[in-house]
Amino acid sequence: MGINTVILGTQWGDEGKGKIVDCLTPEAQAVVRFQGGHNAGHTLIIDGKKTVLHLIPSGILHAAVMCYIGNGVVVSPGALLKELDSLEGQGVAYADRLRISAACHLILPYHVALDQARERHRGKEAIGTTGRGIGPAYEDKVARRGIRALDLCDLASLKPRLEAIVTYHNVALTQYYQEEAIDFNMVWSELEVQAKRVLPLIADVTAALVKHREQGDSVIFEGAQGSLLDIDLGTYPFVTSSNTTAGAVSAGSGVGPLYLDEVMGVMKAYCTRVGAGPFPTELFDEVGAELADRGKEFGATTGRARRCGWLDIIALRRAIAINSVSQLVMTKLDVLDNLAEIKFCVGYECRGEQLSDLPISAADVAACKPIYESLPGWKSDTYGMTELDTLPEEAKAFINRVEELAQVPVTMVSTGPDRVHLLNRLSK
Ligand code: GDP
Ligand code: IMO
Ligand code: MG
Repeated sequence: MGINTVILGTQWGDEGKGKIVDCLTPEAQAVVRFQGGHNAGHTLIIDGKKTVLHLIPSGILHAAVMCYIGNGVVVSPGALLKELDSLEGQGVAYADRLRISAACHLILPYHVALDQARERHRGKEAIGTTGRGIGPAYEDKVARRGIRALDLCDLASLKPRLEAIVTYHNVALTQYYQEEAIDFNMVWSELEVQAKRVLPLIADVTAALVKHREQGDSVIFEGAQGSLLDIDLGTYPFVTSSNTTAGAVSAGSGVGPLYLDEVMGVMKAYCTRVGAGPFPTELFDEVGAELADRGKEFGATTGRARRCGWLDIIALRRAIAINSVSQLVMTKLDVLDNLAEIKFCVGYECRGEQLSDLPISAADVAACKPIYESLPGWKSDTYGMTELDTLPEEAKAFINRVEELAQVPVTMVSTGPDRVHLLNRLSK
């Protein structure tokens, strides 16, 4: 029997999901994305060579593995083809190994224009989106006017529908946001060309996943963004526009929930966040600067500086609960190597009250002052360590304490960005 493993982020994204998916792919026959779009930036480093994936599952660099983009993903044909060209340039073959669900909704140029126009219009209240058109594309899906990958099979029927949608969105763009209209002919001529290349990749991904199950294959479901960016369970409205949590795996790929065996929650040894929104443990001092610097905390998609802070156990516990996380993977332990003291938040003080749960309202989260516990740092080099025995005692104590507070085992620890910088705590 194969094992179906979900690998997702427990924080605000960029936890190192891509690296962990890549590391575990040799044990699987397929890797599936189930939500989000090219707002994601998943970094893989193999023998020092960096590959950043946005839409393509992080299993693509393993030649024998199938990669699927499930129906829950919003796909920009332009971004997809650009990423495929770049992979092809690296000698990665994809034609027989990548399949895109016919039910995926497409991100088209008016979604990007709307996303960016809205952010400009919000001014100081901007969410800090990636500007990739993610929100508007999901809106069209839910409004039942979206264009899906399968619509590319019949361009003659698509053309008048698409023209009507462009006209509809141009009203908001020109009259409400006072921005330039999108030229339908430009959208159409681009899409006609893109369709020729995308069509051979379109398939019934749900049916393919049923086959994998029948064959006894193991499948990895790769989350994008992080649990606290979930549209329902995150710090709304400072969230992305999809469900990023484990419940989205079934809806976004068509694999029933009872078929999922493990949920691996990826967590940094500290926290980061890109874009606006509350972040109780954010640091504005030299420790925050050290984390940003050592952790190279710049966005893999937009290049923006990531905000940095201490690990937040209260937020982590929420993520564990909403995803039924069965194992934790701690990444970027090495980033803490120089610190004399390691802090982690074990409670909040919010408007005079002590809280042990993350509040639902973003305003309440913003009002939370962290209550910290701390442990001594190890002040020595853990970079690249692969054996549990070699870890400094203080680092072991930190991991043990996180495990104790989270009540979920930390099964793996990442000690550097490269594929080989991984320590398995189960194999002693
Ligand atoms: P993802 O979006 O969750 O896949 O994460 P990103 O790729 O956006 O960000 C994680 C960053 O941390 C990337 O630059 C990785 O190369 C890097 N990284 C991952 N694990 C480790 C680690 O254990 N140590 C260090 N120093 N860097 C890591
Ligand atoms: P990965 O998969 C970190 C954030 C944006 C913004 C909010 C909404 O690499 O972890 P959107 O463009 O999705 O409408 O932006 O979500 N965001 C991410 N932050 N990592 C990501 O992906 C993100 N994808 C979106 O910064 O705050
Ligand atoms: Mg990322």
